[in-house]
Amino acid sequence: MAKTPPADSRTSLDPEDWECLRAQGHRMLDDILDYIEHIRERPVWQPIPDEVRERFRSELPRAPAELAQVHDEFMRHVLPYATGNVHPGFMGWVHGGGNVAGVLAEMLAAGLNANLGGRDHVPIEVERQVVEWMRTLFGFPDTATGLFVTGTSMANLIAVLVARTAALGASVRRKGVSGGPKRLRAYTSAAAHGCIAQAMDLSGLGVEALRVIPTDDHHRIDVGALAAAIAVDRAEGATPFLVVGTAGTVDIGGIDDLAALAKVAKSEKLWFHVDGAFGALAILAPGLAPRLVGIEHADSLAFDFHKWGQVPYDAGFVLVRDGRMHRSAFASPAAYLRRETRGLAAGSPWPCDFGPDLSRSFRALKTWFTFKVHGAERIGRAIAHSCELAQYLKSRIEATPELELLAPVPLNIVCFGYRSPDANRINAEIAIALQESGIVAPSSTTIEGRVAIRAAIVNHRTEKRDVDALVAATVTLGAARRKSAAA
Ligand SMILES: Cc1ncc(COP(=O)(O)O)c(C=O)c1O
Repeated sequence: MAKTPPADSRTSLDPEDWECLRAQGHRMLDDILDYIEHIRERPVWQPIPDEVRERFRSELPRAPAELAQVHDEFMRHVLPYATGNVHPGFMGWVHGGGNVAGVLAEMLAAGLNANLGGRDHVPIEVERQVVEWMRTLFGFPDTATGLFVTGTSMANLIAVLVARTAALGASVRRKGVSGGPKRLRAYTSAAAHGCIAQAMDLSGLGVEALRVIPTDDHHRIDVGALAAAIAVDRAEGATPFLVVGTAGTVDIGGIDDLAALAKVAKSEKLWFHVDGAFGALAILAPGLAPRLVGIEHADSLAFDFHKWGQVPYDAGFVLVRDGRMHRSAFASPAAYLRRETRGLAAGSPWPCDFGPDLSRSFRALKTWFTFKVHGAERIGRAIAHSCELAQYLKSRIEATPELELLAPVPLNIVCFGYRSPDANRINAEIAIALQESGIVAPSSTTIEGRVAIRAAIVNHRTEKRDVDALVAATVTLGAARRKSAAA
């Protein structure tokens, strides 16, 4: 009779005792649901103590440990020191709050361990279903294709690569961008996110091939200045090929006149891309959707479900009007990825034909669950509510003599400051102190040379009382700093 090998020589990673594993798994599920249910009782964020940071400098574990023990480490040393964007008081950068249906779906996706690069299985149909929902939502034709990616930075890069291939032909993939006579030029506004310039860099076109067009007071691209820049470039023998509009600028949430940009792009024969990282999903809120008119004319659109869509990180997305062009920018036949009409290798084209990733996670599942469980209308209501809260914060700032508004509030982002002769230093310090207080966590930015405390209200859990807490804490911290400066 074969002997049972000693426990530590086993090669399977499955548990020996499934009952015990199940009980521990349920405890882990309960703990994370408790965290979300009682998130208000915690500080939004807290600095990482040195001894905790030190724990993450240890060597690779060679021997096994109990799952319960590792979970305990997580509960004590990871969970309390997370970013805090699940918390309703989190207002920094543009972070979504996540949602419980998405959390549970992510667990199911990990259990399936599906690879969404390709092959014929229903997880790919789930992704195709979300693509179809988005195609319809944004009024794209049925030739459009879409793809889940990490985030909008990657989605914008994919769009720039497709636009580049459309402008130079598929041969650019063999010859590279330096091989041809055309000097390509792209255009975006001064308020565009830095990842647009980065996409120009990574695509080999170079940051200098991106013309940065000035904006108006609402951070919208100056369409007249855009037309003039295109004319200058043409006169100099360059080839304009791409214009990038923004739906929700990162600093203040401005929305370019997308209909006007679509018109310029059409008459100048440019690829029209929209970076709608958070703003695009405002289309789900009937009161906000009209501001996005023109988005339906885009050649490509990038946005995130993990921001206003409240899907847990990460879930970026790119939609391309001309699916054939999208595919021709990425598809790379290989013997080991041979397609068939039957069997597991059926179902071509595969997602790996539309982007650089071959192995891909099942991001679509948490998005599919989020939309099915909550419905698009409820997500739209949460988006509209963020904007109402931003208007409420604006009114609170205007009614508070110590505070001043530093930018318009077109959407869900409010930039403001504490009035002081030394305002830049004090406001940078207040933003940090607010984060360290654990009460609220805005971030900071610079608006026309002035440091602003920036509250981006994205989380569906945020309420008026969180806005009130931000105003009260800012006034208290500002007064304390002014007093200490005077002393
Ligand atoms: C307008 C805009 N574009 C792009 C990005 C980058 O998105 P991601 O962080 O998902 O890569 C952001 C992030 O906030 C953004 O606001």
